[in-house]
Amino acid sequence: MGLRIFSLFALWILQFAAAQPRTEPLEVDAINKIIDHWNLRSKLNLNVDPCTQNATWAPETANPRIACDCSDTVCHITHLKIYALDISGEIPQELFLLTELMDLNLNQNILNGSIPPAIGQLSKMEYLALGINNFTGRVPAELGNLTKMLSLSFSSNNFQGSLPPELGNLTSLQQLYIDSSGVSGPIPQELSTLKSLQTLWASANGFTGKIPEFLGTFSNLKVLRIEGTNLEGPIPNSFGALTKLEDLRIGDIGPSDSSLDFLENLKSLSILSLRNCGIGGQIPERLSTLPNLQILDLSFNKLTGKIPDSFKNFPSLQYLYLGSNNLNGDLPSGVITPKLTALDVSFNSLTGNVPLDRKDILINVVGTSINNVNLNNEKASGLLHCLQGNTKCRTKNPTTSFSVNSGGPEQVSADGINFDDDSEMLGAASLYTSSNNKWAISSSGIFISNPNGPRYIAQTDSQITNTLDSELYKTARISPNSLRYYGLGFENGVYQIELHFAEIQMDVSVSWKGLGRRLFDVYIQGERVLQDFNILNEAGGSKRALMKTFEANVTNTVMDIHLMWAGKGTCCIPMQSTYGPLISAVHVSQVSEFNSSSGSDRKHVARNLGIGFGCVGGLLIIGSVMYLWWIKKEPGHMKIQNESPRKGEWS
Ligand SMILES: *[C@@H]1O[C@H](CO)[C@@H](O)[C@H](O)[C@H]1NC(C)=O
Ligand SMILES: *[C@@H]1O[C@H](CO)[C@@H](O)[C@H](O)[C@H]1NC(C)=O
Ligand SMILES: *[C@@H]1O[C@H](CO)[C@@H](O)[C@H](O)[C@H]1NC(C)=O
Ligand SMILES: *[C@@H]1O[C@H](CO)[C@@H](O)[C@H](O)[C@H]1NC(C)=O
Ligand SMILES: *[C@@H]1O[C@H](CO)[C@@H](O)[C@H](O)[C@H]1NC(C)=O
Ligand SMILES: *[C@@H]1O[C@H](CO)[C@@H](O)[C@H](O)[C@H]1NC(C)=O
Ligand SMILES: *[C@@H]1O[C@H](CO)[C@@H](O)[C@H](O)[C@H]1NC(C)=O
Repeated sequence: MGLRIFSLFALWILQFAAAQPRTEPLEVDAINKIIDHWNLRSKLNLNVDPCTQNATWAPETANPRIACDCSDTVCHITHLKIYALDISGEIPQELFLLTELMDLNLNQNILNGSIPPAIGQLSKMEYLALGINNFTGRVPAELGNLTKMLSLSFSSNNFQGSLPPELGNLTSLQQLYIDSSGVSGPIPQELSTLKSLQTLWASANGFTGKIPEFLGTFSNLKVLRIEGTNLEGPIPNSFGALTKLEDLRIGDIGPSDSSLDFLENLKSLSILSLRNCGIGGQIPERLSTLPNLQILDLSFNKLTGKIPDSFKNFPSLQYLYLGSNNLNGDLPSGVITPKLTALDVSFNSLTGNVPLDRKDILINVVGTSINNVNLNNEKASGLLHCLQGNTKCRTKNPTTSFSVNSGGPEQVSADGINFDDDSEMLGAASLYTSSNNKWAISSSGIFISNPNGPRYIAQTDSQITNTLDSELYKTARISPNSLRYYGLGFENGVYQIELHFAEIQMDVSVSWKGLGRRLFDVYIQGERVLQDFNILNEAGGSKRALMKTFEANVTNTVMDIHLMWAGKGTCCIPMQSTYGPLISAVHVSQVSEFNSSSGSDRKHVARNLGIGFGCVGGLLIIGSVMYLWWIKKEPGHMKIQNESPRKGEWS
């Protein structure tokens, strides 16, 4: 009996001694101060040793999490996670006493101030996550000391200044997330040493200069995102060596002459988005040999020639965006493969037909001469040809106004305006015309990271302030790329456009959820009237109404209001896919008619329109063709006579 008690006791002593080495006292003290500094006592009441075996805060799923390495005679804290708990204030100096930390995750909080240079002391660091916080100041050069780093994230912050060249010392780095971080200036040449990188998210920053050639030497890259920066093209040919790329998104680069030749050997691609990159030339036949490509977005470029017949052999393609280029010829019928889900070829000089038997696919052919017999409203489909550029349009019973409750039901406003129902479900490539033929809407793009997520309509139950028409703002249209309203069959003349906005997806709460930024552009009749528009900032808060008023001319029976995402803002706060245009309602009404006698006035308008069209390639054609048409009416210019069929005329 006595022996048994003794041996149990001995076993207990042994276990205690073997399994429970003590934690380095300096670290115990530091972690307790950190917990108090960030007010975490209620979530993590550390009244025993932080490295206690099997502690509830040690498993990978715990949050807050502290995990240790006890392989030595003392234990060291190696993992610290305080994720999405809205801890605020600055980083306490005590953090830098945890010198054995190899994994620090402070993502999704509201930490502020700057990152202290002492971060450079945490030389064991392999995973450092500081994303979605409110940090300011410069990105510290001392990060370059953490040469064991495998993954670094400081996305979605408010840093200033440029990236420190010292980051080039992180030669083991495999993942770098710095999108929407606030950094600007040139990308340092010193970063050319980061050859282990597999993932680089660098979008929505103020980077300047050319897209670095050296990115093409990062032969391990699988994911590269550089949209919404001030970087200039062309896309370097060196990118042709990135054969492991699976997801490539470049967009919104300044005027350049890029080509698609570099794509030939990028056989691993499944997502390819090169929107608004100034890409010219023809679409290479061989693009269709990319075996895994599911999403292809080449919209808003300067592509010419035909859509290759070889596209009928695209093995995996589901989403095809070729809108707003200079493509011509017939839409090859084979392009609509059995796998294809969405096709947008809008605003090109394309002809032909959408096959009758494919009502199942989402399709947008507005601004082309392609017949789409599947359109929900045949009469309006005639009107939409007025957007294609080679058609002179006129109307017998012209419209002089339209009003739409974006994303919501019919609604009469406090001052008696009847806003039409606009609750139709739109998708990845949609064109919908209202039952009264006064307006149409097109939407283009998918929320790539969240294909089953938002339904292109946002909604709230909350009251909207700063308006008598709260209901009008409780629904909104949203879009991952391009959202357009068209006024149809308008009397030519001067119009007033009222755009109603209220931010109903983002808020200003004291939480990481309040750190989102939505930025988008608005074009009216091809002219950019809002750039980097931020509803929340301009309205002075979330769920607050804001109306912007503009004036524009209708010269070919169509009003075109185009909301477009240029890659800026944050991507995922407070939810995945919270970015891109949002609009609550539209109201357009005529101010005055043009003087019908005044020919010179009309020419002036046409020229004005032509200038503003900029990168919107398809519209440029409209502008110039309209100009030619007016010239033609003047004596002495009768040679310009090869006018195409007047499909747009109706009565
Ligand atoms: C910790 O958990 C492991 C595995 O579940 C177990 O073998 C061990 O005895 C536990 N240690 C303590 C001190 O509870
Ligand atoms: C950080 O936020 C706290 C409030 O949480 C505030 O008192 C403090 O002034 C801020 N510090 C800086 C540097 O902005
Ligand atoms: C870290 O880096 C800086 C500058 O790159 C250097 O001056 C410093 O000595 C390094 N060491 C530590 C522990 O911060
Ligand atoms: C780190 O980077 C800086 C700047 O690029 C360089 O001057 C320094 O020599 C590098 N340090 C090490 C240890 O490589
Ligand atoms: C972030 O910091 C800014 C000042 O830099 C402050 O105005 C804002 O309220 C902070 N946001 C949150 C959610 O704490
Ligand atoms: C429009 O025409 C009327 C009369 O036909 C004339 O009085 C007026 O000045 C004209 N306005 C413009 C802007 O040309
Ligand atoms: C619209 O037309 C009017 C009258 O012809 C002209 O004065 C004005 O400049 C035009 N506005 C735009 C934006 O083209």
